[in-house]
Amino acid sequence: PYPFYRKLQEQSRLYFQPSHEETVPDRWFLSHYDDVVHVLKDKRFGRENEANVSSGYTALEAVNRGVMLHRDPPDHTRLRSLVSKAFTPAMVAQLRPNIEQICDELLDVMEEKQDVDLIADLAMPLPVMVISDMLGVPKEDRVLIKNWSHVLAGTLEPGITPANETDGMKAGMEFIQYLQDIFEQRNKHPKDDLITSLLQVEEAGETLSRSELYATCILLLAAGHETTTNLIGNGLFTLWKHQDELSKLRADPELTPSAVEEILRYEPPIQRTGRFAQQDVELYGKQIKKGQLVVTLLAAANRDPKQFTDPERFDISRQPNRQIGFGMGIHYCLGAPLARLEGDIVFRKLLSRFSSLDINVSNPEWNRMVIFRGLKKLPGTVC
Ligand code: HEM
Repeated sequence: PYPFYRKLQEQSRLYFQPSHEETVPDRWFLSHYDDVVHVLKDKRFGRENEANVSSGYTALEAVNRGVMLHRDPPDHTRLRSLVSKAFTPAMVAQLRPNIEQICDELLDVMEEKQDVDLIADLAMPLPVMVISDMLGVPKEDRVLIKNWSHVLAGTLEPGITPANETDGMKAGMEFIQYLQDIFEQRNKHPKDDLITSLLQVEEAGETLSRSELYATCILLLAAGHETTTNLIGNGLFTLWKHQDELSKLRADPELTPSAVEEILRYEPPIQRTGRFAQQDVELYGKQIKKGQLVVTLLAAANRDPKQFTDPERFDISRQPNRQIGFGMGIHYCLGAPLARLEGDIVFRKLLSRFSSLDINVSNPEWNRMVIFRGLKKLPGTVC
C-alpha cells in the first residue's frame, strides 16, 4: 500500500471519494502527518454517526454501540475510565513475569517442532493468552476467542458485505453467550480479574449498561488480535528483511523498545482509522459536510517525509520517532503499554534464545484487509 499512500500525499492534501451506496457516507482521505494529527484531535470530528447510534438491536450493533472506540464524550470518557486504570504503564509492568512465562512456553514448543509458523505458533497465541489472563477468561478458549475476534475485525473493514455482516452477527451472539456463562460464574465466585471488577462497577455507583459490559469485554479480548499479533509478525518479517538492522538488534538488545517503535512506524498493524464530521467543517479550502467520513491514513502519516527523515528507511535506532501507529487524541490506544511490553518481551526472548533462527521472507502472504495489515503465515526453522 505504501507507493499508493505516497502518490496520494503528493497529489492531494484532502482527497475526496464519493460513495455509490446509500448506507455508506462520502469519504475524504488525509495522508499528511500534521493533517492526520490535527483531525484526530479536533472536536468537530468524532466517532459517532447515524449508523452506529441507531436503535437497531442486533448483537453486532449492540457490540458496536457499546464500545468506547465508537463513542464520543461523555460516554467515551465514562467507558474508558472504567478500565483505564488496569492499562497504565505501571499496572502493565507488573504483568512482565506472567508474559515472559507465556512466551517461554510458546518458545519451548517451537524448539521442539523446529519447523514453525511464527504467526500460528507465537504471534497469534501470545496476545490472546495475556489478555485472557487479565480478564479472567480460560486460556484454553483462545481458539474460540481468536475466531470470533477475527470475524468481528472483518466487520470494521470498508465495503462490508452482507455475508460478513451475517458472520459478524453470529460471532457477536456467540461471544455474548460465552461471556454470559463467565459472568454467572464470577457473580458467584468473584476473582481478582478485570471481569469481576467490571461486574462490580454498579456497586461502586458508576453506570455501565449490560450491552456496554459485553461490548467492553469483547473489545478488550478482541483488540489485541489483529494488532499485537501483527506487530510481532510484521516486526519479525521486517527485521529478517533488513539483516543489518537485525544484527544491530542482536548485538544490542537494549535497542528493543526503539525497534518496536520503528516497526509500528514502518509496518503499522492498523493502517487507518476515521472520524465523522459532527458538523459542516471547512478544511484546507474544502467543504466537509456533517456525517461525512474523514479517513486518517496512519500508515501514510508514518512515512511523511516532512515528519521523518528518510521515511522509507527501516532504522531501529531512529530518534526522534513520533510514530502514530497507536493513533492520537482521546481514542489513543488504551492497550499501547501492553502491546509495547509484549513486543519487547517477544523480540528479546526470541533473539536471545534462537541464535540461528531462519525466517523465510521471500514469499510473504499478506492478509487481504485494508485496515489491519498482517501476514497470514511466516514460516521459519529453529536450529
Ligand atoms: C484504540 C492500535 C493493541 C485496546 C486503538 C487505536 C489504534 C490502536 C490506532 C485508535 C483508533 C482510533 O483512534 O480510531 C493498536 C495497535 C496495537 C494495539 C497498533 C498493537 C500493536 C491493543 C491492545 C489492547 C488495545 C493489546 C487491549 C487489550 C484498545 C482500545 C482502544 C484502542 C480499548 C479504544 C480506545 C478509545 O476509544 O479510547 N488501538 N492497538 N489495543 N485500542 Fe489498540
